[in-house]
Amino acid sequence: MTKYCNRFARILKKQTIMSSSKNTFSSKLGVIAATVGSAVGLGTVWRFPNEVHDNGGSVFLIAYLICVLLMGIPVMLAEFSLGRGSRADSVGSFKKMTPNKKWWIVGATAVLASYIILSFYIVVSGWTLEYFWLSLTGALTAGHEGVSSPEFYSSIMDEALFTAWNPVFWTFILIVINMLVLIKGVEKGIERMANVLMPLLFVILVMLCFVSLTLPGAIDGVEFFLKPDWDKMNPSVLISAVGQAFFSLSLGMGILITYSSYYPKKTKLGRTSVIVSSLVFLVAILMGLIIFPAMKSFGIEGQTKGASLIFVTLPQIFEAMHGSYIWSLLFFFLLVVAALTSTVSLGEVVIAFLHKTFGMKRKKACVITLLPMFALSAVSSLSLSVWSEYTFFGMTWFDFLDYVTANLMLPIVAILICVYVGHIIPKSFLEKEMTNNGSMKSLILPTLIFLIRYVSPLLVAAVLLNKFFEFV
Ligand code: PFF
Repeated sequence: MTKYCNRFARILKKQTIMSSSKNTFSSKLGVIAATVGSAVGLGTVWRFPNEVHDNGGSVFLIAYLICVLLMGIPVMLAEFSLGRGSRADSVGSFKKMTPNKKWWIVGATAVLASYIILSFYIVVSGWTLEYFWLSLTGALTAGHEGVSSPEFYSSIMDEALFTAWNPVFWTFILIVINMLVLIKGVEKGIERMANVLMPLLFVILVMLCFVSLTLPGAIDGVEFFLKPDWDKMNPSVLISAVGQAFFSLSLGMGILITYSSYYPKKTKLGRTSVIVSSLVFLVAILMGLIIFPAMKSFGIEGQTKGASLIFVTLPQIFEAMHGSYIWSLLFFFLLVVAALTSTVSLGEVVIAFLHKTFGMKRKKACVITLLPMFALSAVSSLSLSVWSEYTFFGMTWFDFLDYVTANLMLPIVAILICVYVGHIIPKSFLEKEMTNNGSMKSLILPTLIFLIRYVSPLLVAAVLLNKFFEFV
């Protein structure tokens, strides 16, 4: 026991030295772009429209907004305070705040969750890259005589996503791109990439949205998405919305702790959490305004489950539009950008942990994090094709990892972070971080603290229990 305590003391000392080295985002834009880049990922551009479609349209949007306000912003703020206040990675932050306690296990679980998520999320990201390539070469919009559109696009999807080596190849390319960005470091890699790609993402979104909204009959889709049909509201819609808020805001994974440890001292945490959440919400709205009007306009409901909405139904819509080549190219580029900026943030959680807690050189930490990813992601990918007969609790390896992380690890970590920030560490710490050492006033501070302490953890716990009972 004493041996372990001494080891931690050494690690802690080393960490204080490491964290004093300059490793911060250099501008306000960098802070927002990188954090929004992490948050806006496949969860918002892909999962969100699927969830809206399956959960009664507009009521889901309203439930999602409520969850972002009651849970998203407070949990985000709790993670920001912990990260910026301690200037450490997600394990180190707990160790710094409560040195001789076991709370660092929460941070370690977050690091593990991020790594596991990366091993299958990067596979899906690889699919987006592959579709971008198919758009670029014109294969997606080349026409298909004698074969119906749904059949044609389903066969392209099967070939692209579920044959053995094709998706693995694209996943590998994405790992290499991640490595190139992450090796460059926080400011020159992550921040620079986000500063260029995130504004581009918004421009593409607005363009696609404009095109979709000007299609004939688009208004039916707008109504489905925005006009509340209260009869469709039920507890399961709310529960799905909590899950979506969680996923789309990158909560409970140590990402926000890690990124906020790179925030300059003068960053206003409250304002940042509101801006980031609002931008994520805005992207979700724009995605809805791209997909549903187009679907209604062309009368293409088609397959909407899982991957099919994006990879089968949407290409049919693009095909029916003038300028199909350019729209599909822009759309899949948008997906690649969303995926890349999120995979980078998942990787950064592990790299920051190895770099700061173990004092490993950044380059070495990048290699150690991403090299095994070639094997791990290949296993996730192949579990959907040649290894699909091997199941774990009735799920493929890919689905099993998804289930365990999204439904168990992330909610548990988020609850514990709220308990930790709200009840374990001194209240003054949170107040100091939220007011930048008392230099600014925050009228809603008491409300936020109340939400962090009670409302958010209880909401997340309700979802967790629900999933648990669904499973048993
Ligand atoms: N927030 C990002 C997204 O919505 O895609 C990143 C992310 C969050 C990835 C949660 C995976 C995850 F489980």
